[in-house]
Amino acid sequence: MRIEFRALRKTFPDGAVGLDGASLSLETPSFTVLSGRNGSGKSLLVRHALGLETADSGEVLVDGAPLGTALAATRRRVALVFQEPEHQILGVTVREDAEFGPRAARERPDAYSARVSAALKAAGLAGFEGRLCAGLSGGEKRRLAVASALVSEPELIVLDEPFNGLDLAGASDLLRVLLRLNAAGVGVLVVTHDLEKCLAHADRLVVLGSGRVVREGSPASLWEELPALGLRRPPGGLDRLAEMSWLETAP
Ligand SMILES: Nc1ncnc2c1ncn2[C@@H]1O[C@H](COP(=O)(O)OP(=O)(O)OP(=O)(O)O)[C@@H](O)[C@H]1O
Ligand SMILES: [Mg+2]
Repeated sequence: MRIEFRALRKTFPDGAVGLDGASLSLETPSFTVLSGRNGSGKSLLVRHALGLETADSGEVLVDGAPLGTALAATRRRVALVFQEPEHQILGVTVREDAEFGPRAARERPDAYSARVSAALKAAGLAGFEGRLCAGLSGGEKRRLAVASALVSEPELIVLDEPFNGLDLAGASDLLRVLLRLNAAGVGVLVVTHDLEKCLAHADRLVVLGSGRVVREGSPASLWEELPALGLRRPPGGLDRLAEMSWLETAP
């Protein structure tokens, strides 16, 4: 699928400029990293993909059609995992949480049960079905948010700062889940400052600044500019980027 953000502008009543002509085209199944300084508009931009925010001007197109005409379908095709996984956990147990979406949509258990099991497995949570959500670690909660997002079998999964608060092992577990999904054809958009955790695996880097896309391209092509864009470069040089699979050194 293809999502196009065209010249989105959004100003808040207090005068804060959230987006200032942001244009970006996303095509699945790429692995894209969206980065930029705090307040550059990253969260705001991705929330527009699901119609959770409305721009003052500009448009969002899904496969060429205005988002407004395809909102319900787009919310099934695109999954958003928020920065705080707690905000997305709605069930008491892991399985109940993953079943929340299809149950709310009044699907019958025999229609969603296999999808729920597959989503939990894809997120590395097979065997966790009966566990209480409240007792999960931060990394497990994040993967539960991913599992619940996967139940609708989305074509694109968007994760806002997914590595926040995760240690190396938790981050590497999550990255492995994302890489497996991407290899299976699911588009991945990771919003993050932690370039060292995922840039080696991305085929595209988009940098926002002051509410618009200031640079985009392959990670290698933007490497030299990262510090000037306010982003910390992963350790090692550009020549190492290709083989710099951070996973290999992770536990
Ligand atoms: N509800 C709101 N009311 C007023 N200003 C807002 C609101 N939501 C966002 N903004 C402003 O819009 C700008 C972009 O916010 P956004 O949350 O998208 O930034 P971000 O790039 O995700 O930042 P961070 O890296 O800190 O998560 C910021 O200046 C923010 O203060
Ligand atoms: Mg944000």
